[in-house]
Amino acid sequence: MMPTSEDDDPPMILLTGGSGYVGGRLIPPLERRGVRLRCLARNPERLRPRVREETEVVPGDVLDRSSLDRALRGVHTAYYLVHLMSGAGSRDFERADRQAAGNFADAAREAGVRRLIYLGGLGDDADPGLSPHLRSRHEVGDILRGSGVETVEFRASMVVGAGSLSFQLMKSLTDRLPVMLCPRWLTTPTQPIAVDDVLAYLLAALDLPPGGSRTFEVGGTDVVSYGDLIREYARQVGLRRWLISVPVLTPWLSGLWLALVTPASFVVGRHLIEGLKNPTVVRDRAALEAFPIRPMGVGEAIRRSLEIVTLPA
Ligand SMILES: NC(=O)c1ccc[n+]([C@@H]2O[C@H](COP(=O)([O-])OP(=O)(O)OC[C@H]3O[C@@H](n4cnc5c(N)ncnc54)[C@H](OP(=O)(O)O)[C@@H]3O)[C@@H](O)[C@H]2O)c1
Repeated sequence: MMPTSEDDDPPMILLTGGSGYVGGRLIPPLERRGVRLRCLARNPERLRPRVREETEVVPGDVLDRSSLDRALRGVHTAYYLVHLMSGAGSRDFERADRQAAGNFADAAREAGVRRLIYLGGLGDDADPGLSPHLRSRHEVGDILRGSGVETVEFRASMVVGAGSLSFQLMKSLTDRLPVMLCPRWLTTPTQPIAVDDVLAYLLAALDLPPGGSRTFEVGGTDVVSYGDLIREYARQVGLRRWLISVPVLTPWLSGLWLALVTPASFVVGRHLIEGLKNPTVVRDRAALEAFPIRPMGVGEAIRRSLEIVTLPA
């Protein structure tokens, strides 16, 4: 990424979602790149200890339009790595995410931001049964693009890594249930991606030549079912698991599944589980042409996530 033409300073990058899983993992590699980094956070004091001294941390809330002007001032590229599913208004997260993306898009256009980089979800827009969560992720991409600021959207299924909520959900269910009664989604095809590969794409998006808004579907090398994913995780951690497919998700059964999700992730877990019926597979392979990144497979992604968990404190 070249210095901006106005001056010789490195370009200013704004990161939202820095207190979250993907955003938090993106901070160290961005800091190592020598860009000027500014993080927007609802609780700056909580993020401050996790960043280098020279990294700015500014208060901001994507639902509060007026808080975004200061954060976006002088920004060349902004990462949008936020979702509102776990917030106070999570029941109506679609409306909240729409409003938040609209605020951000508007403020970015006014501030003269050159590029927005967003990580959303895979799934077929033409599928009338697309879950509210996945539909909302696509809508956010549309709203950001609608600002007129060049937007690079990545669409991924489950991000595999220690701390990624969707992956933790699969792990905690597998850890706790020797026999799993699973609804039809056991056979839904998906294409999980290792967090390291997601980070590589998000970083590489800084170096894409200007060229209008683009959407890239990204995934690991393996298309698997959720059942395969559970079995591979269980195999790697040495657990024997029996998966029994049942035709419908009764209220009792869905209650059982959700009771196993920790309270903190309960609300998000409910929305994510709804999306398991939707195939999340890469259909457009443009990312493999645009970037030199060759994502790893599911086995390696799970292995790496377990290595991080078992590191000594
Ligand atoms: N993890 C996955 O498996 C996965 C898969 C595909 C796509 N993605 C996408 O990747 C992106 C990041 O996901 P993640 O897993 O990193 O999520 P996450 O860990 O839940 O983090 C969400 C972030 O959003 C921030 N946020 C929430 N409400 C906000 C508000 N009103 N104003 C400002 N910030 C707010 C949170 O900040 P606070 O600390 O203040 O709450 C947090 O930093 C999302 O777009 C998601 O759809 C994730």
